[in-house]
Parts: sequence; C-alpha cells; structure tokens
Amino acid sequence: MTKSRDTTEAAFNKRAASYDSNSWHIGYARRLVELVAPTPGIRILDAATGTGFAAIAAARATGPAGRVVGVDISAGMLDRARQSITAAGLTNIDLVQADATSLPHFADASFDLVLCSAGLLYLPVQAALREWHRLLAPGGLIAFSTMREGFPVGARLFREQARRYGLDLTDPATPLGTESRCAHALREAGITPTAPVAETVQFSRGDLEHAWEAHVHGPHHDAIATLVPEQVQAFQHDYTSALADLLRDDEDRLLNPEVIYAFGRKPSPPTAAEPAPTDPTEPTGADPFQQF
Ligand SMILES: C[S@@+](CC[C@H](N)C(=O)[O-])C[C@H]1O[C@@H](n2cnc3c(N)ncnc32)[C@H](O)[C@@H]1O
Repeated sequence: MTKSRDTTEAAFNKRAASYDSNSWHIGYARRLVELVAPTPGIRILDAATGTGFAAIAAARATGPAGRVVGVDISAGMLDRARQSITAAGLTNIDLVQADATSLPHFADASFDLVLCSAGLLYLPVQAALREWHRLLAPGGLIAFSTMREGFPVGARLFREQARRYGLDLTDPATPLGTESRCAHALREAGITPTAPVAETVQFSRGDLEHAWEAHVHGPHHDAIATLVPEQVQAFQHDYTSALADLLRDDEDRLLNPEVIYAFGRKPSPPTAAEPAPTDPTEPTGADPFQQF
C-alpha cells in the first residue's frame, strides 16, 4: 500500500541531505538509463527523480537536442538535484515539484521515454503507469526498476526486528517484486512489456551505515512513531547488531540485492498502409529505441 503524499514528501525531505551518500543509488539509476540507451534528441520524463541521478545520466545520453523533465514531490530532493545539475553543467533538464502520478500541465504524448528509478514502490502503481501511458508518444518506452521481493536483505531484517516491538511492516517490493508482476502491471496500464533484466546491485559496507536512518525515516515505516524513545533505542541496537551478524555470515547476500529492470512500450496505432502486427510484442512504426 502506498503512503500519503505528505508522509512521503516529509520522509524524503528528511533523507535529502544524506541520500547521495548511499553509493548504490547512483549505480542503480545509471544502470536503468544504460539499459535503455536514450538516443540523441528525445524527450524524457524522469518520474520521482529524487536527487536527479537518472535525469542527469539521461540528459547526457540524449544531448543538447534532447530534453529531460525531472518530477519529484520532495522539495528537499529537488534542491539536491538542482545543485548536481548545475555542477554537471547541464542545461537540458527542467525540474518540477509535482505528484508524478498526476501531471495535467503536460499534454498527451509529450515524451518519448519515461524513466522511474527506484520510485514506483512509493506510488500507486496503476495510477502512475496510466498517467505515463498518457504522456508517452505512441511507440514510446517506459523503463522502471524495482527490488525483487524480499530484497534488500537488510530491509527484511529490519522488518523481522520490528516484529519484536509489535510492528507488522510490509515489504514494499511485493507488488512489483517479480518479472511477471512487472509485466502484469504494465499490461494493465495498456503498455506492452518487453524483456526485463534481472541483476544485482552492489551495496558498499559504507551504505550499511545509513541503513538504520533510511529505514527508520522510510515512508513505509511510519508505524515506528508509535514506539517510545526507549523502544526505538533498543530496536536500533538490535537491528545494528543483527546487521553486523549477517554481514559476517552472509556478506554476499546482504551486499548484492536482486533487482529487476522492467520495460514496456506504448503500442503505436496501426495505420491504413501498415496493418496491425499479429505479434503484439513486435514494435511498430519508427523506433527510437532500437534494442527493444
Ligand atoms: C528512492 S527515491 C528514488 C530517487 C531517484 N529516482 C533515484 O534513482 O535515486 C524515491 C523518490 O520518489 C519520490 N516520490 C515519492 N512519491 C512521489 C510522488 N507521488 N510523486 C513524485 N515523486 C515522488 C520521493 O520524493 C523520492 O525522491
């Protein structure tokens, strides 16, 4: 279940200052863009852009003739994105503070590519995908990433420890946490899924230092506010020692969470000269994304 926009915005405003110190976030976002390989001159929406990792990678790929719009609900995350864009010397990115599931100020078919790196777990999935379907030009592509259900293992450990304090926290990766769930969600929104890519991302040991803070302020974990400070302190102690034990016993599983990169294309309407293809997964018409 997704949390209210206010809760999510407040949680990410709090995380904004430390977000970029998690080294894995940037690799995860850049990999999504690398898999899509945006061509020069296309129009790209980066939904839930955060501090702008995917937007920056996409802006470099599409070049000065292309345009990237990064949308996020958190002013704090967008401030960070603005600083990074300026530091990178990029002038082809616009940032908009808005709910990425409702963007009425953009006309239908405004974009050739919609990216969403590590963002869909905070959004109502169908509302988001349907809005992005509307915003895509026919033949355009949606690309998003998600953790596989049960990953990262450190988050699962956090939920297990939370149970000892009477908190029943759900896995936010569940709704999209398998290839078939990703494909089903895309199809439901009228988007034709193409081959997903399953890989691992790499956490550094330094990333684990931010794990407590990331989880405790996570928008899916606001039930922690019901604990008294002594319980929170004990919970933190239990969690950090369980994490240290896991790092010793199963470093590989802890530091290499499984992720899925999912892709889908908005079908092009058949033209009179070009009858509808019999295979609905076959691309039709001009294709700016050759590899799919
Ligand atoms: C885990 S971060 C991912 C940021 C970035 N895409 C990346 O790869 O690092 C999730 C982002 O989703 C944003 N977000 C959550 N709900 C949103 C909504 N309804 N509309 C726009 N952004 C939203 C948060 O503010 C946060 O910046």
